[in-house]
Amino acid sequence: MPGLTMEGDGRRLAAALCLVIVATASVAPAQLVVVKNSIWVMSPLSMRAHHEAAIANYGVPNYGGTLTGVVLYPADAKLATGCRPFDATAPFKSRSGRPVVLLVDRGECYFAVKTWNAQQAGAAAVLVADNFEEPLLTMDNPEGETLTFLANITAPSALVTKSFGDALRIAASKSGEEEVVVQLDWRESMPHPDARVEYEFWSNINDECGPRCDEQAAFVSAFRGHAQLLEKAGDALFTPHYIIRFCPARFAGTRQCASECINHGRYCAPDPEGDLGAGYEGRDVVVENLRQLCVHRVANARNASWVWWDFVTDYRVRCSMREKKYSRGCAEEVVASLGLPAEMMAECMGDPEADADNEVLKTEQMVQVGQGNRGNVTVSPTLVINNVQYRGKLESTAVLKAICAGFKETTEPRVCLTQDMETDECLDNNGGCWRDDKTNITACKDTYRGRVCECPMVEGVKYEGYGYNDCKASAR
Ligand SMILES: *[C@@H]1O[C@H](CO)[C@@H](O)[C@H](O)[C@H]1NC(C)=O
Ligand SMILES: *[C@@H]1O[C@H](CO)[C@@H](O)[C@H](O)[C@H]1NC(C)=O
Repeated sequence: MPGLTMEGDGRRLAAALCLVIVATASVAPAQLVVVKNSIWVMSPLSMRAHHEAAIANYGVPNYGGTLTGVVLYPADAKLATGCRPFDATAPFKSRSGRPVVLLVDRGECYFAVKTWNAQQAGAAAVLVADNFEEPLLTMDNPEGETLTFLANITAPSALVTKSFGDALRIAASKSGEEEVVVQLDWRESMPHPDARVEYEFWSNINDECGPRCDEQAAFVSAFRGHAQLLEKAGDALFTPHYIIRFCPARFAGTRQCASECINHGRYCAPDPEGDLGAGYEGRDVVVENLRQLCVHRVANARNASWVWWDFVTDYRVRCSMREKKYSRGCAEEVVASLGLPAEMMAECMGDPEADADNEVLKTEQMVQVGQGNRGNVTVSPTLVINNVQYRGKLESTAVLKAICAGFKETTEPRVCLTQDMETDECLDNNGGCWRDDKTNITACKDTYRGRVCECPMVEGVKYEGYGYNDCKASAR
C-alpha cells in the first residue's frame, strides 16, 4: 500500500481472504494520501528554505499552529536511530532555551518508539530522516502490535527526505556553531476555506478487534460532547461512514461469503474473530453498520443528526460483543430509547436476505473510492476533515484541534476557544435515560463528555439498577 509505512513488516493487508473493497477493485491502486506540514529553516542563513515533511499517524500534530525550535541530533551514534531510551538524567536542551526538535535516523525499530524515547528525553517534536531518496510517506504504528505508550505520545512527528535530513544532521552536529532553528508549520495542513467544517468518520462496528477498536470506541464516546455542540450550532457537518466490502463473483456461494455477507454477497465485513465457526459473523457486523447508517439518516430527517453519537456510544455499552449482547433486539431497544421511529428504521434497513441492492450500502461502497485529495478509504478507523485524511492519534483533544484548524480564521466556534462547555442533553427527552415520571427523579447527568445514564443518589437515597431503563431506591 503506497503512501503508508510501518517499520517492520512495512505493509498492511486486508485481513479477509476474499472480500474485496470496491476501491481496490477499480483501476487505481488503494492509496493513502500523505498529509504534510511545512518546515522553514530560519537559521543558519545559508540553509534558509522551506521544506515539506509527512505528518506521522500518531502523536498530536499541532494543526492550525506552528512550533519553533532548535534541531538537535544525538551525539552518540548508537542512539542516532532513537530506538533506545536516552539518558533520562540529561534531557535534551538547546543553548537558546528554545524547544528541542530531535532529529533521528530511520530504521531499527518502529517509528513510534523513536518519538516516545525522544519525548521522554525532553523533545517537543521529532523529525525522522529517511534513509533513502523516495517520496515522503506516512509513518504509522504497527497494526496488531500493542505499544503501551502509544496513547501517551503527544509530541508531533514527521518524516523528512534523506537529502533534507542529511543537511540538518550535518548542520546540527557542528558544535559551537549557530543553532539550527526551524519552524514547523501545520497552518496549511488542514484546508480552512469557510465558516463550516465538514468531516467524516469511517469505522466498522466490531468491538473484538483489539486496541484499534478500543481506541475507536473511546474516541467516539469522548468526542461526542464536542461533536454534538458543533453539529447543533450548524458549525460542522458530520457524516458517519462504514467500510463495506463485497464478495467477488468467483467466491459466490462459498461458506465464507455466506457467513460474512448480506444481500447475497453484495455487502460484507470480515469475521470479527477471524473464525467463521465461532462467535459473531461478518454479516452481523454489516447489519449493525447498516443500522448505524440508518440511525444517522433517520435522525437527520428529524433534524437531529447528532443522535448518531448517542446511539453509537450507548450501543457499545449496552450491546457489546464481549458480553454476548450484540443483537438486533438489543439494538432496537437503543433505537427506541433515543426516540427514533421503528418504521423509518425498518424502511431504511430493508431486507438483508433479499437478492437485491440496498441503496444505503451501495452508496457507502461508492463513496469509499477516493475523491479529490482524500484518497480511497481502506483502513478503519479513518477520519477525514475538510476532505483531508486526519493524521495523528485518534483522541478527542487532538481531533478537536484539527477540526478547529478547519475553520476560516476568526470564524472558529466557541468550543475551539474555550474548554468549558455544557451539553444540556438531559433537557431533551431526558437524554434517553430512565426517569420516574411521578417524582422527576432521573438517571440523566450532563457531563463535559456528553450525558451519562447513571442511577442517582437523591436526598441520601441511593438508586440502583440500569440507568438506561430501570432504577430503584435501594432498601436500607
Ligand atoms: C501513560 O499515561 C498514563 C496516565 O496518564 C499512565 O498511567 C501510564 O503509566 C502511562 N504509560 C506509560 C507507558 O508511560
Ligand atoms: C417534571 O419535569 C417536567 C419538565 O421539567 C415538568 O413539566 C413537570 O411538571 C415535572 N413534574 C413534577 C412532578 O415535578
